[in-house]
Amino acid sequence: MPDALDLLKTRRSIKPIELAGPGPSAPEIDTLLTVASRVPDHGKLTPWRFIIFEGEARLAAGDAIVAAFRSKYPDAKPEQAEAERKRLARAPLVIAVVSRAGPHVKIPEWEQVLSAGAAAMSLVLAAHAMGYAANWITEWYAYDRGVLAALGLADNERIAGFVHIGRPVQPPEDRPRPPLNEIATRFARH
Ligand SMILES: Cc1cc2nc3c(=O)[nH]c(=O)nc-3n(C[C@H](O)[C@H](O)[C@H](O)COP(=O)(O)O)c2cc1C
Repeated sequence: MPDALDLLKTRRSIKPIELAGPGPSAPEIDTLLTVASRVPDHGKLTPWRFIIFEGEARLAAGDAIVAAFRSKYPDAKPEQAEAERKRLARAPLVIAVVSRAGPHVKIPEWEQVLSAGAAAMSLVLAAHAMGYAANWITEWYAYDRGVLAALGLADNERIAGFVHIGRPVQPPEDRPRPPLNEIATRFARH
């Protein structure tokens, strides 16, 4: 198990196609979701929920994706349609983080959306801490209402991310990170 700070300092996303099986077991998925749901949540609204895609269900979800794809691109080649069908079947496990943010008398919707982002990030970090790798992506189908309805989302719900989880087939190369002096300032009275 990596030291917590080392983990946070070295975490990297791995492409969905490079996330191999076997994926997390059922008890491990419970641990992932337990960590993901332990996030700051102003007003205790639980403005998010999770949908698990595993095994054959990933391709059943892919049927909805490919149907939406075909209606957008009726002339698409069969291999393109097949790739769309496999969108959620690249990694052994995909967990959708669904935002249920909405108008509230006291809690701004923005803060509810941020809480869903926190849940997605905690899910990514939990996967890494358990020795898996992850990738938080949305892609076009996260914004297609037809696909979302087929996946069981209500009209007021949105996808914060499809978090792909699996075992890295190779260690990732790092990418440049923003220099701290460009993103952080120390406040001083003007
Ligand atoms: C809300 C959200 C949606 C994202 N959607 C995509 C996506 O659709 N495709 C993609 O390649 N990366 C997407 N990313 C970026 C990846 O999660 C990841 O940050 C990127 O691959 C860089 O890797 P790193 O996490 O190692 O810095 C998204 C990130 C966020 C926060």
